[in-house]
Amino acid sequence: MSEVHLHPVMPEIEAKAHANNDTYREMYQQSVVNPEGFWREHGQIVDWIKPFTKVKNTSFDTGHVDIKWFEDGTLNVSANCIDRHLETKGDQVALIWEGDDPNDDKTLTYKELHTEVCKFANALKGQGVRKGDVVCLYMPMVMEAAIAMLACTRIGAVHTIVFGGFSPEALAGRIVDSNAKVVVTADEGVRGGRAVPLKQNVDAALANPSVTSVEKVVVYQRTGNAIEWNSGRDVWWHEATAVVSDNCEPEEMNAEDPLFILYTSGSTGTPKGVLHTTGGYLVYATMTFKYVFDYQEGEVFWCTADVGWITGHSYLIYGPLANGAKTILFEGVPNYPSTARMSEVVDKHQVNILYTAPTAIRALMAKGNEAVEGTKRDSLRIMGSVGEPINPEAWEWYYKTIGDSKCPIVDTWWQTETGGILITPLPGATALKPGSATRPFFGVQPALVDNMGNIIEGATEGNLVMLDSWPGQMRTVNGDHERFEQTYFSTFKGMYFTGDGARRDEDGYYWITGRVDDVLNVSGHRMGTAEIESALVAFDKIAESAIVGVPHDIKGQAIYAYITLNAGEVPSAELTKEVKDWVRKEIGPIATPDFIHWTDALPKTRSGKIMRRILRKIATGDTGSLGDTSTLADPSVVDKLIAEKSSVV
Ligand code: WTA
Repeated sequence: MSEVHLHPVMPEIEAKAHANNDTYREMYQQSVVNPEGFWREHGQIVDWIKPFTKVKNTSFDTGHVDIKWFEDGTLNVSANCIDRHLETKGDQVALIWEGDDPNDDKTLTYKELHTEVCKFANALKGQGVRKGDVVCLYMPMVMEAAIAMLACTRIGAVHTIVFGGFSPEALAGRIVDSNAKVVVTADEGVRGGRAVPLKQNVDAALANPSVTSVEKVVVYQRTGNAIEWNSGRDVWWHEATAVVSDNCEPEEMNAEDPLFILYTSGSTGTPKGVLHTTGGYLVYATMTFKYVFDYQEGEVFWCTADVGWITGHSYLIYGPLANGAKTILFEGVPNYPSTARMSEVVDKHQVNILYTAPTAIRALMAKGNEAVEGTKRDSLRIMGSVGEPINPEAWEWYYKTIGDSKCPIVDTWWQTETGGILITPLPGATALKPGSATRPFFGVQPALVDNMGNIIEGATEGNLVMLDSWPGQMRTVNGDHERFEQTYFSTFKGMYFTGDGARRDEDGYYWITGRVDDVLNVSGHRMGTAEIESALVAFDKIAESAIVGVPHDIKGQAIYAYITLNAGEVPSAELTKEVKDWVRKEIGPIATPDFIHWTDALPKTRSGKIMRRILRKIATGDTGSLGDTSTLADPSVVDKLIAEKSSVV
């Protein structure tokens, strides 16, 4: 371990922060000793239509996992994100849109956002959407993505957002699983100077015979280029919203009514539909946004995530808007048209809080000072990181070069499943150690367990679990509660297993070491190895495949695919291209293998189980310590794989 460079709390940040170290300790203590009392008080951070009387009703017992928060309260998410700010800040900016092209931008005030959300809510009703129906959003990063999300919550429809980079096949699978009635999309998206054929992808997805639930497709016109039109089914956004009233009363929702479904990859099977509900999620997103980013009135917040990921849900839309913040929705990518784009956007909109991912930071770091050329970044006060472990070198570069050594960095650890940030520094409270996500947020009870599930104390390393529930926790896997219990509560009985490993140091700080299951993290995107493998074996020339992750300087991890071909097939450059194209089509570009290792046989145990541990070591060139290979059915396979490694590209 190299020496840790401690960054103490900055006095000027601490002076006006929502919490300092003493208040953090006090509040944390209260939150775990008396969660009922703590959340009864802090549940008031959102407005309730009917106040809750019950606070926490949760069980992690295998076979009876059940999670309910604020269960007898009622509220509406869009009313919390918009209506409650109208009186005090109706004319203040809520959303700032920055286009892919640096000359394109616009803003919406809270009042204007209210009008747009009401109109689209009424338009959705006009297309037959009712409370409880699922609406699938397959959108580019335009204002209308936020408007559509909020409109769903206004009428009690459940949104499921599918990232625009997913293929028609992947989209179809999510529509089928969620039983979506309406799809909202755009003619095309624009990203990094390139058009993304969203409507065409929707058409292809809906042509899949397994998709039977969709009645209408609402299309926002982003580029105006020609698209195919299915007149019985397709509706223009601008036409549907032109004929409706601009007032729509928010639907009264129970705290435990579903709010959204978001698909994410796990170690087995198809992506899981993570279900979040209304009250607990909103309380948790609102509370974490306020404290973790130490949001102060009037500040401009920029989260660079896409709304297709959980970070885009909790910290681009719901957390910021529930706090009455100004939040930026950026259509483009951090290095287009120039390496300094991110810094330029910071200056242009006078961003105070910047929240981005290690993969973006490392890509900019590779260009050195070009990333800040011609920019001041003097509006920045706090910076955040999310999605994967941030290596201390990238942390220091982010701190010095982007933040000019005056902004604390909050390295926030959390998951799609957790709804909001669980382990994180608080800017005015926590001395920072580059590479450490530091301490638990209020109400969060992390622990480390050994492989037998015994809790291990003190400075140590183990599997990261949570001992009790927090309001933002997912409630179930859509339509499959058994899978929920199996995935998260069966490895270690009575505990929520995160799938991550972590180290805890002598100060009680957590250092996330990465996934301990078969999940990869490529540029901050979660990919299940099983998911990529099943896409590969669905290709008619492939017999078998095994996917492992290998370290990558910028992406964090790269995808390394071992592939065995059917008899008679031979590896070639064309086949490599065919296979990559196939994966893009089946899942999306983010799942494309970086390396393909053609081989005749994979190392298997006598019972036929692929020994991934060995494959990981061969892929990373760590062949000096392969460990015990005597359980292999055919140990000679290993030498052959090592010899082949040199020709892998
Ligand atoms: C990883 C993203 C280290 C982790 C919000 C987790 C991190 C997975 C961090 C969840 C961090 C996220 N430090 N690792 N600050 N943040 N991760 O569901 O492995 O897309 O389990 O949620 O990302 O990814 P997901």
